[in-house]
Amino acid sequence: MRIVLVGPPGAGKGTQAVRLAEKLAIPHISTGDLFRANISQQTELGKLAKSYMDAGNLVPDEVTIAMAKDRMEQADAQNGFLLDGFPRNVSQAEALDQLLQTEGITLDAVLDLEVPEDEVVKRIAGRRICRNDSSHVFHVSYNAPKKEGVCDVCGGELYQRDDDREETVRTRLEVYHTQTEPIIDYYKAQGLVVTISALGPVAEITERALEALKREK
Ligand code: AP5
Ligand code: ZN
Repeated sequence: MRIVLVGPPGAGKGTQAVRLAEKLAIPHISTGDLFRANISQQTELGKLAKSYMDAGNLVPDEVTIAMAKDRMEQADAQNGFLLDGFPRNVSQAEALDQLLQTEGITLDAVLDLEVPEDEVVKRIAGRRICRNDSSHVFHVSYNAPKKEGVCDVCGGELYQRDDDREETVRTRLEVYHTQTEPIIDYYKAQGLVVTISALGPVAEITERALEALKREK
């Protein structure tokens, strides 16, 4: 399957993407994780991305699209993928459509995670991620690691993301409403959008998502 995951910052996209990718046996492609990996490896791309990310703004389309394209062309993504955080505006959605068209493939669904704003603010405030891999995500009270400050998956140190500061979160939410939400209408016009509530226990949301995707097949 080829799936795009959308939803506000802190909706639980990364948390669900890891679980869904495993169940559906497709790779989880997160542009946020790819940028964070570049930042920790101190690449030129990482340096550029960091200046935008720390301010809560989108990294320019040109570099983002090139990076996503590169990742989607890798061998493990040939039979499907779960995109998390990409596309994030209408021009990225158009670029993705073009890319898929060239390959003669189409998306199966756009899974829209719905969460009220006061809840995403609480989720972001308590989020802690792993130094070794930013897809290892926890929450101090909702999804606490077994040992405080230590990643359950790899034993790495947990820390708070630089862009999870309150003023940056406000900008990210605004960017979501003005730039990312319009892609939901873009994909509705293609009949691809499946909206589910992302409130409740993590495992229940995964089940809800799988059920909704089954109906789309
Ligand atoms: P990115 O990393 O994509 O961040 P985001 O979209 O803001 O999403 P988040 O990672 O904040 O949240 P999430 O929905 O994944 O939630 P999570 O599962 O962690 O992007 C970061 C930046 O990179 C952007 O601002 C931009 O600068 C740049 N960027 C990335 N892609 C780009 C693109 N395409 N174009 C341009 N720029 C781009 O969960 C949140 C918390 O809630 C966690 O603590 C988790 O444990 C907890 N939680 C999860 N589920 C539940 C639940 N059911 N109940 C209670 N708590 C829960
Ligand atoms: Zn880890």
